[in-house]
Amino acid sequence: MAYNLKGRNLLTLKDFSKEEINYLITLSEDLKSKKRAGISGNSLAGKNIALIFEKPSTRTRCAFAVAAKDEGGMPEYLGKNDIQLGKKETVADTARVLGRMFDGIEFRGYEHETVEILGEYAGVPVWNGLTDLYHPTQILADFLTLKENFGKLEGLNLVYTGDGRNNMANSLMVGSAIMGVNYTIAAPKELWPEPELVEECRELAAESGAKIELTADIKTGVKGADAIYTDVWVSMGEESEFEKRIELLTPYQVNMKMIELTENPSVIFLHCLPAYHNTETENGKKIFEEYGLEEMEVTDEVFESKYSKVFDQAENRMHTIKAVMTATL
Ligand code: CP
Ligand code: NVA
Repeated sequence: MAYNLKGRNLLTLKDFSKEEINYLITLSEDLKSKKRAGISGNSLAGKNIALIFEKPSTRTRCAFAVAAKDEGGMPEYLGKNDIQLGKKETVADTARVLGRMFDGIEFRGYEHETVEILGEYAGVPVWNGLTDLYHPTQILADFLTLKENFGKLEGLNLVYTGDGRNNMANSLMVGSAIMGVNYTIAAPKELWPEPELVEECRELAAESGAKIELTADIKTGVKGADAIYTDVWVSMGEESEFEKRIELLTPYQVNMKMIELTENPSVIFLHCLPAYHNTETENGKKIFEEYGLEEMEVTDEVFESKYSKVFDQAENRMHTIKAVMTATL
């Protein structure tokens, strides 16, 4: 069934119901098969789309830009030094100006409040491309990937291990609670999510039938997992935390032993990317020199294994973001 989402913001997945999220995922599947068949649409013809980035991005930026172009829209990249957002002009003023010129606005940055103000004042749909608190468009791609692998979402066991209080852990918890996916965070207690958010998600889960669990115990946490998900141990903007995180999270690294502990031969590995899985990058080399680590949140062996679906996830960012834009514009 099609839902009318015109004019709606996507600041967190809490903005949409289970049926609406299912609709966005189905629409993404359709757009994906069309793209594969070489069929492009014009659902964004004449639409101008602002892409505001306070933090760097490969996937999110390219997904928005390519998705907009594919459907006949015009994306405009606005980096943090290109505009006055919050510097010489309030966020509310920038929102009202951009809202007069653009048909939709994507924002990636630090404070979640910034995207909320944009959403309140722009008068056109605003999409959260990642804040310190949430990363909702990523979850749509992750759920599309889960559905492609298991044919369903409801009743799956998704285990997130690592920094259990970052934007990814939070958003996966919200999305799982709404969609009826059983969600376990396996992380040290120091890195569990805010109790208020856990409570809110458990209330959402009561409706969908999902179980939301937190544990510090890896063995019981990952047993029976359909998917193991991890993210970087240190998110953008938290670089001073490296040493502490390495100490806390080394036992939670996704490696072949953890895959075996799931006792599920069909388990898949997911990561939003970018990932530290070898020393071949500039940052990877630095971490190796400073901390002696060749791999961090995931071993190269798992990252490159048959379990890993990370590049399907990355591709699915584009199809799902296209669905969000076409549905809300
Ligand atoms: N997963 C994700 O959001 O990647 P980027 O930071 O490259 O956009
Ligand atoms: N938690 C990560 C996600 C990157 C897509 C970060 O915020 O840096």
